[in-house]
Amino acid sequence: MKKISPSLLSANFSNLEKDIKMLEEGGADLLHIDVMDGHFVPNITIGPVVVEAINEVATIPLDVHLMISDPGYYVDAFIDAGADYLTIHAESTPHVHRVVQKIRARGVKAGVSLNPHTPISVLENILQDIDLVLIMSVNPGFGGQSFIPQSLNKIKQLRKMLDDNHAGHIEIEVDGGIKLDNIKEISDAGCTVFVSGSGIFKAENPKGMIAEMKRAIR
Ligand code: DX5
Ligand code: ZN
Repeated sequence: MKKISPSLLSANFSNLEKDIKMLEEGGADLLHIDVMDGHFVPNITIGPVVVEAINEVATIPLDVHLMISDPGYYVDAFIDAGADYLTIHAESTPHVHRVVQKIRARGVKAGVSLNPHTPISVLENILQDIDLVLIMSVNPGFGGQSFIPQSLNKIKQLRKMLDDNHAGHIEIEVDGGIKLDNIKEISDAGCTVFVSGSGIFKAENPKGMIAEMKRAIR
């Protein structure tokens, strides 16, 4: 089942509860939460305290995307806050294997994200240890950027790598620049979890957009 994971980065931060309810009523499968530290990426967003608050009002699983340096120091805090999926960047620590093991040991789904320049080959030796790969289709840090066209090829390469390694259960999540007009080709390339921030929140009818996106990839 393909999943839509709206990014709260484009939500109204003065009333997150209202937007979360709207997304849930609209049929969102997951809530994508972008954590940025002003060091790994040139922007600062939210920390565990806000994730905990979101967890108190959300009924769907929290898909937490850590864009922070040395994520190993913080995974426990985000798991305690309620993360159901916790994704770290391959570029953010020399100890990806150790950190994904730590996440899984706590019963949470572990993801690894790749920046646009990072080849999928870095995943070769950790396929057994992860539940999700997050392909960045923009440079991480900001919402509202355009989808990088080469990402499509990378998604296809990853789909093949997973199929060749009997790892078809691993979710392929794609993040950045996903809109109603390109979601179908991203789906056809092999994506299973679609993150969309501005594509949903800037739509005329954000609630209806989730259903429209689902129709487009059915
Ligand atoms: C960017 C974040 C994304 C962002 C996507 O660094 O990881 O999740 O919110 O926003 P859009 O869909 O507007 O590109
Ligand atoms: Zn994200």
